[in-house]
Order: sequence, then C-alpha cells, then structure tokens
Amino acid sequence: MAEEDDNDGCLDLVISELPKASGWRKDGLTLYQNCWFPSNIIPNIISFQKQFKAKDKEEDKDIIIMASFQKSGTTWLKSLLFSILNRSQDYSEHHPLLTTNPQALVPSLEFTVYNPNPQMINNIDNNLSSRAMSTHIPYASLPRSITQCCSKYPRIVYISRNPLDVIVSLWHFANAHPDRSRDWTSVGDFVDMFCSGEINFGPYWDHVLGYWKASLERPEKVLFLKYEDLKEDGVGQAKRVAEFVGVPFSREEESGGVVEQVLEMCSFGKLKDLDVNKHGQLRPNFDNKLFFRKGQVGDWVNHLTPSMADRVNEIIKEKFSGSGLSFRNMS
Ligand code: A3P
Repeated sequence: MAEEDDNDGCLDLVISELPKASGWRKDGLTLYQNCWFPSNIIPNIISFQKQFKAKDKEEDKDIIIMASFQKSGTTWLKSLLFSILNRSQDYSEHHPLLTTNPQALVPSLEFTVYNPNPQMINNIDNNLSSRAMSTHIPYASLPRSITQCCSKYPRIVYISRNPLDVIVSLWHFANAHPDRSRDWTSVGDFVDMFCSGEINFGPYWDHVLGYWKASLERPEKVLFLKYEDLKEDGVGQAKRVAEFVGVPFSREEESGGVVEQVLEMCSFGKLKDLDVNKHGQLRPNFDNKLFFRKGQVGDWVNHLTPSMADRVNEIIKEKFSGSGLSFRNMS
C-alpha cells in the first residue's frame, strides 16, 4: 500500500498494512511517514495531525511545543519550560514541580492529549498560564498548520542529546519499562536497533536533523538545544529559552537570582529526590522514577565498548555530514 503523505487522507490509512518492526516494546513499531512509531500510538498521531489546527494568529503565541527524541532530556526541559513560563505565578507556598512529575505538567500530544484513553494519574491544571505541550514526533510529521504556516507561532523548542548517551539511557529505561517485550540484557541489542533506525521515533539522525534544519531555516519558530549545553551553561541556556518563548528574564530577575532559582528547582538532584518522583506514578504501573537515572554527560563510556561507539560514530558522521551539527563527548 502506498503510504499516505497527505494528512487529510489519513482516515483511509490501513495501519495494519504499514511495515512493522519489533523494537523493545510489546506493541512493536510501525513505519509511518518514514518514522518508526510505537504501534499503539499511531491513531493518536493521526488524530493530532488531523485535529490540531494552528490558527496562524496571535492566539497561537502562548502555545509552546517542546520536541525531543526519547531520552534526550525531555523531562528536564519540561520542568524548565514550565518554571520559566509560569514564574509570574505566586508559587512561594507550593511550586507544582514539588508534587507533580514534569511529564504531567507538560502533557505529551501523542501519548496524552490525543489519546482517547490517557490514563494519567496527575490531572493537568487548566488554570496555568503556560500552554506548553510535548511531542516525540519528527518535524516532518507535525501537523502542517504548525510547520507550513508563515507565523512563528506556535513556537517549537527542541532538545537533542549525544546519541551514545541516548542509547545507554534508553537501554536502562527499556529494562525498567512495564511494556517491554522482554528483559534486554545486552546493550548491544540497543546499538543494533539504533543503527538500523528501527527504534521508537527513529531513525534518530532523521529526527535530530529535521529539527536542526528547521531551526536554521526558521530560527524564530524553532529553537534547537543540546542537553550537553544545558549541563555546561544552564544560565545561558535558560535565558535563551525564556527569550525565545517570549518571556525574557528582566534585569531585576537576573540580578535577583531568579534564573538560578529556576535551574535549582529543575535540577536533577532536586527533582530526583522529591517524594513524587521517588514513589509516584504517571499512570498505573508506570513509576515516575523511570525518568531519573544518572543525569550525566558521557555515561556511555561505562556501558558501550569502543567498537560499539565507533559503529555509531561512523553512522552519525556520515548522516550529519555537511549539516553543521555535531555533539561533544562522542569519543
Ligand atoms: P540518563 O538515563 O542518562 O540518566 P527523557 O526525559 O528525555 O526521557 O531523558 C531522560 C534522561 O534525562 C535520563 O538520562 C535522566 O536521568 C535525565 N534527566 C532527567 N531529569 C533531568 C534533569 N533535571 N537534569 C538532567 N538530566 C535529567
């Protein structure tokens, strides 16, 4: 069957006829619009593509879409975006991040918002001023009203991460995930999946390059971040994010240490140690602690052999060639 590339024709799509791969989850993967999606969320993705209508107007100004490949720092950026966007609220008594996992504060478009049966334990507070939502969908598969409109709204903030750390993080995540098809004892299986491209929302290189190129072509619409830069210069990156989403830190805020306070609230150590993230659940059977492991740059050296790293590096070198994109900590 010819794959639909027209979002309006998606109703006719026979999902069962699309190419399939195993991946690491029970439900497996389905190739749709050149991306390997978790099979169970394809209907949600199609609903998102069909129903989400950016209006190409100022009304879209407050909508922020944060995008990422899995295990690239989604949880971290969600907490930062949430804190930056809502910092005018009086949270002196009780900051929502103290009792709610960042994943619930910035809901996923394909897993929650367009899921007819979202199963979220934490209710989303509709009174929040921010309208940030997240996605793992590649840029090319976002609704056309987002990508093809002339307006810079809704804006997109993308976070990327060194692929070697992504592989290792995903391997650990998969082994703790309730929907895994089996225990994945060898990280080599994940290197194989990664290199074949047959991995959730993969291939990784298409995902990252799609947003990278969009950020170069439309810098007012797409902001491209790197996990490693956030680690190295949190203040500089948080200021970039705030400026991009239209709520720059004022001089008073900067001199009053507000940027540092936001970073501290969203820091790995702070979030990981909160009761909600140690013992809470995002949905039944899914522990919040799965989103917090080590939070380090370069942990891949403790898990990948040099030949595994070389294999990934060769592919990335070829795929990224001429793009101007590179990551530190790859060797
Ligand atoms: P590790 O497995 O390398 O520790 P995602 O949020 O996209 O699922 O990515 C998860 C990765 O981000 C995990 O990496 C996790 O530990 C790390 N992480 C989560 N919260 C973080 C934070 N506040 N600061 C830095 N890293 C964080």
